[in-house]
Amino acid sequence: MSLRNISNPAGSSLPDVRTIELTLADLDRMVELERATWPPGMRASREVIARRLEMDHGTIGLETNGELIGMVASRFARFDPDDRDAFPANHDAFANQPHEPGHNAAFVYTLQALPVARGYGVPQQLMLAGRKYTLDAGCYYVVGDARCASYNGSENTGTERIRQNPRFQAAVREAVKTGQLPALEELIRDPVLRFYHRVLMCTFAWVIPDYFPDDEPSGGHGIIFYNEYPPE
Ligand SMILES: CC(C)(COP(=O)(O)OP(=O)(O)OC[C@H]1O[C@@H](n2cnc3c(N)ncnc32)[C@H](O)[C@@H]1OP(=O)(O)O)[C@@H](O)C(=O)NCCC(=O)NCCS
Repeated sequence: MSLRNISNPAGSSLPDVRTIELTLADLDRMVELERATWPPGMRASREVIARRLEMDHGTIGLETNGELIGMVASRFARFDPDDRDAFPANHDAFANQPHEPGHNAAFVYTLQALPVARGYGVPQQLMLAGRKYTLDAGCYYVVGDARCASYNGSENTGTERIRQNPRFQAAVREAVKTGQLPALEELIRDPVLRFYHRVLMCTFAWVIPDYFPDDEPSGGHGIIFYNEYPPE
């Protein structure tokens, strides 16, 4: 699907934009995108990225003038929003597995835009292409696992500058203690969760501790959210 020159909400656009299916031939530039986009504790290694491609995960890139500036990747799985126990315990189990037979969902385990390409609608274009891919495959749910960098803040990571938010951190701590999801107004104090809420109008499901064990900014917490697309 070509998404040529789609404008961002502010009206500017990137030149010669197109979505492409990424393959092992793109491994070098995917590793470079990963390095430029994520803080160290969140980066998938070259080996992990290659294994995901070998498992035929759906991996869509966005190029401008032939340069890779963003990507989204997912695998097919089974999901029940009422069954927390059946949900993967951590990001590794969410992302780095083969497609599940009898799937009803796409587990979207990465969405990323190169820092210099942020604010141009890159994730929106990737989501549009990804949604078509997943709905065509018969998925009823699209599920994401967000990190929440404002728990500890990420101002020293080199790839982003999210400030620590004490109220957000307190709400997440309380959620872990009680097993109750924080109120929406507390969750969207975090910029990534606010982004997902605004762009997808998603439903937040669970806060999972020790989900991103190497991610210092989020304190390891994963926030699970989903959208439901009932068949017409
Ligand atoms: C999330 C991401 C794809 C958004 O891309 P983008 O081009 O900046 O998206 P938009 O311009 O539409 O939205 C920007 C919003 O996202 C927020 N945001 C999301 N991730 C952010 C980050 N890592 N650093 C700063 N702000 C971020 C911004 O604060 C802004 O929200 P606001 O207007 O309410 O303040 C991009 O920031 C990114 O690649 N981040 C690193 C990877 C990541 O965190 N991916 C999501 C993982 S769950």
